[in-house]
Amino acid sequence: MRARDKDSGVPSASLWTAYEAAAATGGALCIRPEKGAADADGGWPAEEWAATGISIDTRAINKGDIFVALKAARDGHDFLSAAFENGASAALVSRIADAAPADAPMLVVPDVDAGLRDLAIAARRRNFGRRVAITGSAGKTSTKEMMRVLLSGFGATHAPDKSLNNHIGVPLTLARMPMETDFGVFEIGMNHAGEITPLTRLVRPHIAVITTVGEAHLENFENVQGIARAKAEIMLGLAPGGVAILPIDNEHFDFLVERAREAGVERIVTFGENARADVRLLEYGTDGVTGRAAAFAGGQRLQFDIGAPGKHHAMNAMTALGAAIEFGLPVKEAAARLGRFGAGGGRGAQLRIEFADGRRVTALDESYNANPASARAAIALLGAMARLAAAEGKAGRKLVVLGDMLELGPDAPALHAGLVDSLVAAGVDKVYSAGALAKCLVDAAPAEMRGVAAPDVDALIKNLMPSLRDGDIVMVKGSNASKVARVIDALVAANVAPAPQGASPDAARPPARRSV
Ligand SMILES: Nc1ncnc2c1ncn2[C@@H]1O[C@H](COP(=O)(O)OP(=O)(O)OP(=O)(O)O)[C@@H](O)[C@H]1O
Ligand SMILES: [Mg+2]
Repeated sequence: MRARDKDSGVPSASLWTAYEAAAATGGALCIRPEKGAADADGGWPAEEWAATGISIDTRAINKGDIFVALKAARDGHDFLSAAFENGASAALVSRIADAAPADAPMLVVPDVDAGLRDLAIAARRRNFGRRVAITGSAGKTSTKEMMRVLLSGFGATHAPDKSLNNHIGVPLTLARMPMETDFGVFEIGMNHAGEITPLTRLVRPHIAVITTVGEAHLENFENVQGIARAKAEIMLGLAPGGVAILPIDNEHFDFLVERAREAGVERIVTFGENARADVRLLEYGTDGVTGRAAAFAGGQRLQFDIGAPGKHHAMNAMTALGAAIEFGLPVKEAAARLGRFGAGGGRGAQLRIEFADGRRVTALDESYNANPASARAAIALLGAMARLAAAEGKAGRKLVVLGDMLELGPDAPALHAGLVDSLVAAGVDKVYSAGALAKCLVDAAPAEMRGVAAPDVDALIKNLMPSLRDGDIVMVKGSNASKVARVIDALVAANVAPAPQGASPDAARPPARRSV
């Protein structure tokens, strides 16, 4: 019996033995011998090895990992020596590169990307657990984390530790799934139509979740219905008898149901505030730090905490409850675990900043990514937090700092300006912007609400910092590539208090990445 990791319960013994990996990929096991030391029949000697993990990045490799030499911006074959220096137990390669240290165990396959997918498929086939796959225009990673904290209370749960949702991230997450996993949680993203289908077919989920459909990546689509169609692809990979969990409040819900029928989905579970929802959010409140929700699910009324504020997280929680019910888990116990969820860095983490001159402000860090749907959610959260502060007699303004939201296509200026309704509804006091698109929001705002529309983030920081007042709450959002996250860095750097109170350990922001 393989040893088990004390936290997740997943075995910590080998993930792949050499022969299992060779059988899965059809690859050749070999080592690069010292110059001229070929064995008797001219082949290169093979060697038994066992790997405890898989890595595609020599900088993040763990001892015992298989290093997968992918060709992306750079060719992983050129980093083989670094991979083995950093503890790789073997490398999945398509050629014996000179950079390979002598005696380094390698598994040679015709195509490394295909080799990784083959490992992913083998990992799925040898596992008898249940799998849930999550997509949506916003909330995929947050929902994945909620599913992790919920399901790990009922069995060995495997989920990616970052937003690994593309053609590399999904097979990598699957290939890393230990054989004894009870619940596998997968995030599936896309920038273009057709990208989700091969990924969901790789995962073969028992449950497919669509968190929401909005304007994310609109520049690659004719309209938002095109995005709904692309998101609906997730149902094309469902395992026989698979379940779709769909957002009933979303304007594209009926279209998603049609796509589900088309895909042969027999069971659809709906979530939302609509009275017809199977998993229904009845009430929602927050104390600014956690959410408090009442829901009707699995034939019972539930009341539970969610470890991060924001009605959008209560909606994400409805999908997690829906999955728990479909997996036959006790829904009350499942709901009780949602208090363990925490808002990740750049995804709603709250930082309390104290300036040297004594001013104290709260930053709501939403700088990881942005699209109109997630921006509206974050602005609503700012409004809720400020109402609470006001109820506690704390004065303070509500400030929004927006960086450009990218990949929205020709409607981008209107989509930025369109957020003005959310600003007014939340009672925002001042809106600041960095970049040409975000400026459209400042221009659309009522005169008294207009802050500085800066050409770039540095100019914005120069203007914003001295204008902040004691008690202000400042919500920072923008696409990753807008670099608006640097406003948070500037606030943290200006903080004189021991550490930005409220900064949870995982508040550290994930590394910047390309898509919105
Ligand atoms: N259900 C939701 N509806 C709208 N906005 C949401 C929802 N859940 C989270 N958000 C907002 O979206 C932001 C990003 O959340 P998250 O990282 O979970 O999304 P994602 O879909 O994984 O994004 P990406 O496509 O970049 O991987 C959060 O900071 C929050 O502001
Ligand atoms: Mg994500």
